[in-house]
Amino acid sequence: MKKMVVRILGFWLISVNIALSQDAQITNIQNRNTFSLNGKWNYIVDPYENGYYNYRYEPYDQMESMSRSAFFMNSEAKGSELIEYDFNNASTLLVPRDWNSQEKELLYYEGTIWYRKLFDYKKKKPSNRLFVHFGGANYQTDVYMDYKKLGKHVGGFTPFNFEITNLLKETDNYIIAKVDNKRKAEGVPTLNTDWWNYGGLTRDVQLVEVPETFVQDYFIQLAKGSYNEISGFVQLNGKEQSTNLTISIPELKINQMVKTDEKGLANFTFKISKVVLWSPENPKLYEVIVKTNWEQLSDQIGFRNIETRGSELLLNGKPLFLRGISIHEENPIRGGRATGIEDARMLLNWAKELNCNYVRLAHYPHNEYMVRLADKMGILEWEENPVYWTIQWQNQETLENAKNQLKEVITRDKNRASVIIWSMANETPASEPRLVFIRTLIDMARSMDSTRLISAALEKHQKQDEPLTMVLEDPLAESIDVLGMNEYLGWYDGFPEKIGKVKWEIKYNKPLIITEFGGDALQGLHGDKSVRWTEEFQEEIYNETIKMMVKIPQFRGVTPWILTDFRSPRRTLPNIQDGWNRKGLISETGNKKLAFWILKKFYDEMELKYKKN
Ligand code: GCU
Repeated sequence: MKKMVVRILGFWLISVNIALSQDAQITNIQNRNTFSLNGKWNYIVDPYENGYYNYRYEPYDQMESMSRSAFFMNSEAKGSELIEYDFNNASTLLVPRDWNSQEKELLYYEGTIWYRKLFDYKKKKPSNRLFVHFGGANYQTDVYMDYKKLGKHVGGFTPFNFEITNLLKETDNYIIAKVDNKRKAEGVPTLNTDWWNYGGLTRDVQLVEVPETFVQDYFIQLAKGSYNEISGFVQLNGKEQSTNLTISIPELKINQMVKTDEKGLANFTFKISKVVLWSPENPKLYEVIVKTNWEQLSDQIGFRNIETRGSELLLNGKPLFLRGISIHEENPIRGGRATGIEDARMLLNWAKELNCNYVRLAHYPHNEYMVRLADKMGILEWEENPVYWTIQWQNQETLENAKNQLKEVITRDKNRASVIIWSMANETPASEPRLVFIRTLIDMARSMDSTRLISAALEKHQKQDEPLTMVLEDPLAESIDVLGMNEYLGWYDGFPEKIGKVKWEIKYNKPLIITEFGGDALQGLHGDKSVRWTEEFQEEIYNETIKMMVKIPQFRGVTPWILTDFRSPRRTLPNIQDGWNRKGLISETGNKKLAFWILKKFYDEMELKYKKN
C-alpha cells in the first residue's frame, strides 16, 4: 500500500510540475496582434551550466546576490563588482534558427546556450494582456524576464507561451531563454535518433497582445461522419468567463451565437448547408471569425471528412490513395532546421513536383508554417509525436512528457483540414510496457480529437522458417485506425532482387501505409544497378518496391524515405555519407536523383487510377 501511495504522490508531483511549467496554450498566433522578437539575440555558451548551478552543482532556485555565481541575467558589474559574463558585448545568434548551422564551433554542440533579447514595447490598450510565445525550441527551455522565472518547457517541437503582462516596462525589457539540447535517456525522443540534434530557439518568438478576456483556443470542424454539422468548442481566458460570443462563417451565411460557462468554455454543434469540401484537388478554406465583446479573431479553416471503411481510406466519402513522401524539418541547402514560410514552400513545392497529395512530417511536429501552407496547397499530412525507437516506457515522467507534446501539437493543429493522421510513434520495439504507454497516448488523442485517424509505424517480422514471408501482427494495430509500416527490403534486408520474392501477411483488415522504404545514393554517383550507393541501385529499389507494394490488398498509401538527404551523426561513411543520410530523392545541393522520376511516374499512374474511381 505504502508503495502505491508513494507512486501516486510521485505521479501527482510530476503532473503538477509539467502543468505548472507553462501557461495554457494560445492558438492561431498568426492571426493575432503580435510583435516579433525574431532577429539577433545575444548568447552565452554554457556547457557546465555555470549560470544555473553553483559550484556545488546545486541549482539556483531563488535569486542569490548578484555575485559571480548568480545565473546569467541582464546585469552589468557596478564598479569593481565581480560578474563574469556580459550579454551586452556577447556575440549574437539569429532567431528563429538552430545554433548548429550558424557557427562552425556549434555544429556538434549539445548543451546549454543562454539567449537574451532586449526590447521596448507599449501596449495598444492598457487593459490588454501580454504573452511571450515560442513556436518551439529544442529541447528544454527555461525562460526569465526581469529577474523572474516565467517557466519551463520540455520538448523540442511544440509551442509554448508565458504571460508577462505585469512584468512589462515601456522600455528596456529583456527576455532570457536558457535552451538545453542535451539528449536524455528519459527524454522524448530518447538518446538515440537518426537525425541531427539541432538546438536552440528554432522557431519564431513573438509578443502576443490580447484583451483582458480573450479567445484562447477553439475547435471548429465538421462533426465526424457529417457534411452538414459543425461541432467543437471555444475556450476563453480571462475574468469574463460566462458570456455570449458568435462564430461567423460569412461565405456560408453562418452567425452562430454560443454561450460560455463559468469556466469560459462553450461546446457547440450547428447545422451548415452547401459547404465546399476541402480536398487536395480543391483546398477550399473558409474565413471563420470568433467574435466576443472584446475581439474578433479570424482563421482560415477547411471542412472535410476523413474516415476508414474496412481497409479503405475515404476522404469526403471517396476512396483515397496517399501519394506521399517523408520529410524531415530541415533546409538541406542552407543547412539546419527548416523554419519560416520560404523553407516550407521549398519543401512542399518539391513534394508537389513528385505529384504528392500527402506528406509524412517525420518524426516530430514541424513548424506551423508547414502545416498551414499544406492546408493552402491541398497536401494531406501525417503529424508525428517524437516517441521514437527505445523510449523509457515505464518512466512516468517520460509518459507525461510524451502526453504533453502530443497535447500541444493536437491543440495547435486540430483546425487544419490537411492534417488527417496523428501518429503516436515510430518503430518502437514491441513489449507490454510499450503497448500500455502508446495506448495511453491514443486514448488522450481520441479524447481531444475524434475527427482524425490514429496511426503509428508498427513492428513487422520475418515468419518463422519462411525467410521470404514478412508478417505484420503488431498488437498495437488493434488500437489504431491506419497501419503504418517501415520496410527496407533491398537496403538493410537483402538486395533489390529480394524485394519481388517477398510475401506479406498483414493480420488486420485496415488501410496500410508503407511509411518508409528506400536506400542511400550519393547524388551524381553512377554505376551498375548492383553497385550500392549509386543512383541506379536506389532507382532499382524503387522499381522493385513499387511492383511489390501494389500487390498488397490493403495498400492505401506510401511515404518513401525521404524527400531530401538530411544530416545525421550516425552516417559517417567517408566520401559517401560524411554526416548525411543519403536516402533522399534530392541531394543537399537540390539535385534530383534517378529514383525521383520513378516515384513521380508511379504517382502519375496512381492519380489517374483513383480519378477513374
Ligand atoms: C528508420 C527510421 C528513420 C531512419 C531510417 C534510416 O526506419 O524510422 O528515422 O532515418 O530508418 O535508417 O535511414
